[in-house]
Amino acid sequence: MKKLTKLTALALALVMVLGLLAGCGSSNADSSTDNSGEDTAKDKLVVATSPDFPPFESLEGGEVVGIEVDILKLIAEKLGMELDIQQMDFDSVIPGVQAGKFDVGMSGITVTDKRKENVDFSSVYFMAAQAIVVSADSGITGKADLEGKKVSVQTGTTAEDYCMANGYEVLAFTANNDAASALTGGKVDAWVVDNEVALAMAPDLGLTVLDEAMTAEPYAFAFQKGSELVAPFNEALDALLADGTVEKIFSDYGVTYVGP
Ligand code: ARG
Repeated sequence: MKKLTKLTALALALVMVLGLLAGCGSSNADSSTDNSGEDTAKDKLVVATSPDFPPFESLEGGEVVGIEVDILKLIAEKLGMELDIQQMDFDSVIPGVQAGKFDVGMSGITVTDKRKENVDFSSVYFMAAQAIVVSADSGITGKADLEGKKVSVQTGTTAEDYCMANGYEVLAFTANNDAASALTGGKVDAWVVDNEVALAMAPDLGLTVLDEAMTAEPYAFAFQKGSELVAPFNEALDALLADGTVEKIFSDYGVTYVGP
């Protein structure tokens, strides 16, 4: 945290550099690399995540890994900050960011008008969709077949909103894995989840992902309303989008990149 201090330090560093350029400075030009010397410990970028969402974020030997982690590592580096990743259920991520408990929400978060009332968003960095996942013998081949069927979703997600709004019988689970298990365990007819997550998880579970996309979901990172971090964060993210780094990270994970 300590974002104000950090921004103030950055502003001071800028003033000093300008002073040097004007020919009236005498301080060490290296000062920009150690953040003025008085505070050598890097400021923390506290990130809230629900690491049950491969390939965006998942746990590997206790460590949170994935596409969004790789993007955030690069952004933190550009901001001269240290990542501090905090794990929680998805339905705690946005409320926690909103309350200022965390600096950034990183969870394959879809930008929605409703959420925009509560949090600010970074630039959109990927376009996803909701997918229908079924077991091999389900006889469900598209959205039309879901009428009157029972579906599982993760609590607090756009999948939950969508399925409730469309009149399906919805079983919601705080953990994404439990939503998947509801289908493998035969408690529901389909599992509705973001498309790339469906593609990443379905094969191991012996499940089938249907081709029909149900929604369009722009992904972005979430911030407390009015957060001063959004501007510098976006500057870093926009540069990574513009120079192809984000696209490269997606392809490292075998995902076809769909830009905003
Ligand atoms: N994109 C969906 C949403 O924003 C699902 C996100 C779930 N994320 C997770 N890490 N489990 O609601």
